[in-house]
Amino acid sequence: MLFQQQAQSLVVQTPAKLNLFLEIFGKRDDGFHELETLMVSVSLYDTLTFQKEDTEQIHLHCFDASQRSINNQLSFLKTIPNNEDNLVVRAARLLQEQTGTSNSVRINLQKRIPAAAGLAGGSSDAAATLAGLNRFWNLNLENNELCQLASQLGSDVPFFLSSSPMAICRGRGELIESCSFKGHHHFVIAQPATGLSTPKVFQQYHERQKIISSEKQVQPQSVEPLLAELEKGRLSKIGQHFHNALQAPAKELNSEINQLAELFEAETVCGHLMSGSGSAYFGLCSSRKEAQQIANSLRARGVSQTFVVSTSL
Ligand code: C5P
Repeated sequence: MLFQQQAQSLVVQTPAKLNLFLEIFGKRDDGFHELETLMVSVSLYDTLTFQKEDTEQIHLHCFDASQRSINNQLSFLKTIPNNEDNLVVRAARLLQEQTGTSNSVRINLQKRIPAAAGLAGGSSDAAATLAGLNRFWNLNLENNELCQLASQLGSDVPFFLSSSPMAICRGRGELIESCSFKGHHHFVIAQPATGLSTPKVFQQYHERQKIISSEKQVQPQSVEPLLAELEKGRLSKIGQHFHNALQAPAKELNSEINQLAELFEAETVCGHLMSGSGSAYFGLCSSRKEAQQIANSLRARGVSQTFVVSTSL
């Protein structure tokens, strides 16, 4: 997350994330799934600008800052809640409740991270709001206090408050263990035309699991072999240990995931996987140049939206 203080405003660039590994260890009594996931923040950013507002209110304005056509822009913005339901407004209200401040703010949100993609754009915006307003309103909350509020807003939100671009997230996703590996990784992300709903993908996982576990015992995979390869830095080996337990159920809900998996298989990527609960799909590349070439090739094969990204700073 990058902060830029200007005369009358604070600008925050907040990244998307990819899951290089995601394993599930069953459903909990609170309805969430116990998981272990390796997340990396990448250089596809939403921009939030916090400005003074005269009325005692929280005003959110969303803009599509991507390169989409005007029709796609309008349908994209329809998928982003522009009111009290938006996680940005909920984060600002939560800060007000917790600290008793009645400060107001106008938040301009420039969206580039696609919604319903498994890239956690909404969660990242919420984390940026907590961290941004903590500065803008001079609240002086500690990072652990912000993380506590973040976990009330969503399982992925605390990850974005960690200072490291890579972390193992456990529990329902809110327990963060930062990782520090040398090197800077390059990815190409492909976003299919249709997104996926996170609760529906988890539900489908659960349904599938009931059938599979009645037939055979499936052992959960460990993140350790992937961590060992990240330590050694061998790209092709890293890619071999990519794993996402939500990919099979997501494929059952959205046939575009299968098509993307086949397209990536035909490319020279070091490994490929669906991110989070989908529907975005990504490949690990040996350089930025290669990522750009693969993005061009995917577009030529009909993939509507691609992003060339690296591990975020
Ligand atoms: O935490 P968040 O609000 O982002 O979760 C969205 C939905 O995803 C939850 O309502 C739940 O259906 C599912 N989920 C889950 N287990 C997790 C995280 C999310 O079942 N660990």
